[in-house]
Amino acid sequence: MSPGSSGQYGYFSDEHCEYRITTPYTPIKWCNYVGTLAFGGIVDHTGGALLCKGDPALNRITKYLTQLPAADFRGTTLYVRIKKADGTWDVFSPLLTPTLKKLDRFECHVGLSYSRFISEYRGLKVEITVFVPRHDQVYLQDIKIQNTGPAAEIDLIPVVEFSHFDALKQLTNADWVPQTMTVRAHRQGTSCVLEQYAFMKRDTAVNYVTANHPVSSFDGDRRCFLGHNEYGSWQNPATLHQGELTGSQPLRGDNIGALMLHLGKIAPGDTKRVVVQLGQAPSIADAQPSIDKYRKAPEVDQAFLELGAFWQDYLGLLKVTTPSASFNTMVNIHNPRQCHTTKNWSRYLSLYQLGYGARGIGFRDSSQDLLGVMSHMPEEALELAVKLLSMQKRNGSAMHQFNPLTMEASQGDSLEDLDRPNYYGDDHLWIVYTMAAYIKETGDVDVLNRQVPFYDKDPQGRPVETGSIWEHLVRAIEFTWSDRGRHGLPLLGFADWNDTVNLPKGAESLMVANQFGKAILEMIPLCEAYGQGAFKEKILGYYEAMKKIVNDQAWDGSWYLRYFDHNGAKIGSCANKTGKIWANGQSWPILSGFASPDRRDQALESVYKHLNTKYGIKLSSPGYQGFDPEIGGVTTYPPGAKENGGIFLHANPWVIIAETMAGHGDRAFEYYNQINPAEKNQIIDIFESEPYCYPQNILGDEHPQFGLGRNAWLSGTASWTYVAATQYILGIRPELDGLTVDPCLPKHWQEVTVERRYRGARYTIRILNPHGQSKGISSLWIDGQRIEGAKIPVMPAGHYRVEATLGL
Ligand code: NOJ
Repeated sequence: MSPGSSGQYGYFSDEHCEYRITTPYTPIKWCNYVGTLAFGGIVDHTGGALLCKGDPALNRITKYLTQLPAADFRGTTLYVRIKKADGTWDVFSPLLTPTLKKLDRFECHVGLSYSRFISEYRGLKVEITVFVPRHDQVYLQDIKIQNTGPAAEIDLIPVVEFSHFDALKQLTNADWVPQTMTVRAHRQGTSCVLEQYAFMKRDTAVNYVTANHPVSSFDGDRRCFLGHNEYGSWQNPATLHQGELTGSQPLRGDNIGALMLHLGKIAPGDTKRVVVQLGQAPSIADAQPSIDKYRKAPEVDQAFLELGAFWQDYLGLLKVTTPSASFNTMVNIHNPRQCHTTKNWSRYLSLYQLGYGARGIGFRDSSQDLLGVMSHMPEEALELAVKLLSMQKRNGSAMHQFNPLTMEASQGDSLEDLDRPNYYGDDHLWIVYTMAAYIKETGDVDVLNRQVPFYDKDPQGRPVETGSIWEHLVRAIEFTWSDRGRHGLPLLGFADWNDTVNLPKGAESLMVANQFGKAILEMIPLCEAYGQGAFKEKILGYYEAMKKIVNDQAWDGSWYLRYFDHNGAKIGSCANKTGKIWANGQSWPILSGFASPDRRDQALESVYKHLNTKYGIKLSSPGYQGFDPEIGGVTTYPPGAKENGGIFLHANPWVIIAETMAGHGDRAFEYYNQINPAEKNQIIDIFESEPYCYPQNILGDEHPQFGLGRNAWLSGTASWTYVAATQYILGIRPELDGLTVDPCLPKHWQEVTVERRYRGARYTIRILNPHGQSKGISSLWIDGQRIEGAKIPVMPAGHYRVEATLGL
């Protein structure tokens, strides 16, 4: 049985790799993604679509105002009208919005890069599948309409509202923007393509809407379509009560694309199918081949099959069967899917990251996002990693953000505050993990020779230095070693992973200290494989020195500190009134290997005692009680929200990993389970967020709305939870010389199976737990042959059966 099948708003259909929403009345809008950043966007559960091509700030296609109430029109919709006996029309939307007429049935199947809406209204069954083909840049709405009642005369009216390409201008300029917006109709016989553009894009980038059905009339102007003299609204457009649309082809104003498609009488039991296209091309002539292609239903079917095949192959990389249905659902389907989405969209566009700014993508965020796709798409991951490396400066630190289209970097808006340091203490260290993960997955040590320019430029804008990837990694390590404060700990810079603690210059970060330790652990096998013995000895020295500093300076009695401020005062200490204990302060000394077993266990116990809640581990406690400019952004939130004592999910998998390293399988799974969105299906009225993907944050227990999730989809939680589940709970960890099998299971799990592709071979790994343990493999067999240790060596292509037994 799929988990949460009795959820109030929907259920998981693992067989179809879908979450099926069964009512439009979800607590908030629930989303899906279609296409990629190259062309695609968000589709919400009542069919609103926010689409862009390449960049949501500078090439936005549909107007989707996220702040409007859920009932409103958002970018795209479909109206259907049924002719009544008296000749008037019953107009409704099978997507509920914007007509809001109650439907007899509603489902939204949130699929892998597609959404399917199924609804029924007065004997009409409407099924709409929306997706972007893998190899073309067009948003398809594949509409099937079946008459299950008496014969009826039916019209379909698909509608798009266009945004100015410059998304922010659309919001801030009501003079230039409307004066530039144009819609023209291209008619050929009964077919029609509506072309829309801002004047300056006329010859380079035009949007279009068309359908594979005769178009009897159209509208390009919103006022005409809604009926401006009658106060027509999206809920009840005036023209839909007339025979035809007005034929408006505006040279200004609010541009839409509405098509009138008369389906005629549909006999009882009959189905009609129409495909609507929304795309962008340099010109309509350029778009014509694609338009012609997707007017053919078999091409649409083929494109949909190709999309399914892509996902089948992608998810086939790793499949698990454990006793936990919700774990299986997430690890097999929704978590890797979310990782793919975060890799693609970074923090560009969601219902929370609105994509208006020139923010581009984050060095830190993308480095971590790549960890969640590394096994599935190492080549694409490397491509992005190389872009990230080119944002690293010669001194080893990294630019915080950049636009991947222009490769222009910025240090983040907040760094305009000149009282604070103008770099981040952590960014450059994340890429060390990314590159190590790439090499461990692929075995491609030679990649370290690849030359990548450093970010620094001469006055002509040319890079002043290029170095091998190895050199980039070396400089990342050396930067942190050279950039230390009064205790010998790494300086915080503007912030570390926690963007919101922005202390004056001179503050030190314990998180960066531990990140540094972990980065050295990742570098050691690379040094060995790349023949860098001297550097290995050098950084082992750094490691021991930093370990000593952390343990001498930062142990607070029952847990580790989080920061020293610019005056050397402790933050994250039992001596503080607020912000006494921080989750990252405890997990990272374990990830770095700096904590002794005794301190490790005490620190983890302190997390459980002071930070754990039934909905997840809080980032810190207790929350700050008011704004304090000295500490920074964290104090702008009320206690319990976001970084100020909220359950910041990204930090939870680090504790999970730490627990597995300590051998605490039950605790690790308890933590995993309590943030598993699939488990939230039963408490959606508290959680509110989508049950099929991790949100960034859940309100903590100091907040009256404890348990409320927000900022779904684009969060580092996705990649790290995937790493925690697959590499630490299940313990299938790629290393330079093979796949380590080092599970740390809840004791009651008696058997687990993992199917994994790795370096051209396929493994079916059965993990048996006959004695109810958590950790410790006592025997490993490959195809009936006993192997010493707990590592599957790199094998020639083939299918291998592995049996690993946890033993006493
Ligand atoms: C969200 C940012 O995207 C991420 O980089 C950061 O680590 C977290 N906020 C925590 O502050």
